[in-house]
Amino acid sequence: MSKITIEDAKPLIGGIVHVDRAHLTDAEVIEELKTALELRGVLVFPRLHATDEEQLAFTDAFGGRVNFNKGVPGSNASAEDVYKITLDRALNSEPDYVLGTFFWHVDGVTIDQSLPKATILSARTLSDAGGATEFANLYAAYEHLPEDEKRQYEGLEVIHTVEAAVRPVYGSPPQERLDRYRSMAAGMEQPLVWTHESGRKSLLIGTHADGIVGMPGPHARALITRLIQWAAQPQFVYRHQWQVGDMAVWDNQGLMHRVVPYTDEGRVMHRTSIGGHEKPGHVASDENKSRMFELS
Ligand code: OGA
Ligand code: MN
Repeated sequence: MSKITIEDAKPLIGGIVHVDRAHLTDAEVIEELKTALELRGVLVFPRLHATDEEQLAFTDAFGGRVNFNKGVPGSNASAEDVYKITLDRALNSEPDYVLGTFFWHVDGVTIDQSLPKATILSARTLSDAGGATEFANLYAAYEHLPEDEKRQYEGLEVIHTVEAAVRPVYGSPPQERLDRYRSMAAGMEQPLVWTHESGRKSLLIGTHADGIVGMPGPHARALITRLIQWAAQPQFVYRHQWQVGDMAVWDNQGLMHRVVPYTDEGRVMHRTSIGGHEKPGHVASDENKSRMFELS
């Protein structure tokens, strides 16, 4: 009997995995999961109840952990390969970053690094209301675009900044926060249409996308907003309603995600990240950043 079975959640996104957690790091299980992740975008393991150690062992077996949270305000810089996503100030003293997860995003896209390959989240304590996580397939969103739009977007470079990521959280953050954000995240120019090493193409968009090189600011942000809305249509989206002990792994390079807003400080999710080796973009130039708000 096979150690693992995977069912489709929706036609264009999502897989539900049944595996005993004792077999999570078996070579053949990892291989099957890697193939499924490429096809399904996000895989959910209902009621797995993995411990932090098991989640980290899985993270390493799947591709190797990366910790880009060390610079995140509120996190404990010394340990924290397991990052706590929570509004509980005792566990995370500055919740801005967590509040930013209410908006469509790709993890780590504003930082000068290879784009993290995958994110793993496990549900420790649920919120009373809200708190489901939504995933949108940016490969499918690209593939379903009309051909003339695909041609129009080829070659465009999008500027992604932390300022844009926190704008819906804060309006304008205090200068001291802004300086800290900027020191951890340079602001990146990333292709709008990313051709991956696999040859597949996906859109690379999210709330952090704030300008397009060579395009007036309002036109760029309007296009970005339209593409986020396009990619967020139900056929491309899987929403996961968590139960305690569920774990999910998603292809952070090919999906955007967000959480349904919650206020409950009791919600606690444990996050680990898998490093990537593809780096589609480069640090945004000051000149391009300064033009981002020009009107024509
Ligand atoms: C994240 C994230 C969503 C959630 O951890 O990167 O976006 O449901 N989390 O907490
Ligand atoms: Mn995230």
